[in-house]
Amino acid sequence: MEIAGKTAVITGASRGIGRALAVALAGAGCHLLLTARDEDRLAALTAELTARPDAPSVAAMPADLLDEDARRAFSEWALSGERPPDILVNNAGAGCFGGFASSFSGDIERILRLNALVPSLLARAFMPVLASRPEAKIVNVSSGAAHIPYPGLGVYAAAKAYLSSLSETLICELQGTAVSVLCFHPGFTESDFASAAGMTPARRPKVLVRTPDAVAARLVRAIEKDETWTCSDLGTRLAITVGAALPHSLRWRLSRIILR
Ligand SMILES: NC(=O)c1ccc[n+]([C@@H]2O[C@H](COP(=O)([O-])OP(=O)(O)OC[C@H]3O[C@@H](n4cnc5c(N)ncnc54)[C@H](OP(=O)(O)O)[C@@H]3O)[C@@H](O)[C@H]2O)c1
Repeated sequence: MEIAGKTAVITGASRGIGRALAVALAGAGCHLLLTARDEDRLAALTAELTARPDAPSVAAMPADLLDEDARRAFSEWALSGERPPDILVNNAGAGCFGGFASSFSGDIERILRLNALVPSLLARAFMPVLASRPEAKIVNVSSGAAHIPYPGLGVYAAAKAYLSSLSETLICELQGTAVSVLCFHPGFTESDFASAAGMTPARRPKVLVRTPDAVAARLVRAIEKDETWTCSDLGTRLAITVGAALPHSLRWRLSRIILR
């Protein structure tokens, strides 16, 4: 897909991978419609991106995507503007670290809704407009954890497994239409994700951690090359591929040793 001149919607654009992706797409000449809850960070990013001499158009609307009214208002805003979206990036997400037995029902619900239900409902809401574009794309930011048992992040990993599974079916259902799907699986990325989830940095093997800029650059290449299913880096790809080939009991033992 040629990115220049397209319009992309990015959820979770206030920081981390979403913010880096906004910068990278703007640099490639893509117009942007951004959202997240943090109004100040969105305003600062919009100002930074529009200050460039060759700046594409950038607009932002703060919204808590877990709030049904706010999510609907955001969709209406993004779908009724001057520039209809060509790309929807479902990037907003969060985890909550801890053993399942001691988890709170509110956290379970929040993680499932944010990582699985919200991207599904946004994809459904944007589908008619995307289908009316000459060439459009839904990008679902899943996780390597979708395919690997991850002690302490069970609900998050299961929600991302749902997102990857839905993406795979959409790839099949939408084949031959104007709308394509990219399911992107980041590995460990240096962002607020871990601290927001209550994980200590020691729980993530340092050598495998990538910067948001590197992950965003990989994601932009995947969009340009019309990839449908990819990872942010070789380590994540290997972990998923090798993990899938191992007997389940060995997979579980390795996950307990490496990821605890
Ligand atoms: N970091 C990793 O190691 C890693 C690995 C694999 C996959 N991922 C996935 O990559 C995506 C981006 O993560 P990240 O690493 O960039 O994490 P991050 O720095 O914590 O960013 C998460 C983004 O989601 C937004 N968000 C969270 N809750 C929201 C809500 N209720 N409504 C609207 N926006 C909300 C946050 O903005 P506000 O707080 O301003 O709302 C923020 O912009 C997520 O889907 C994550 O699951 C991350």
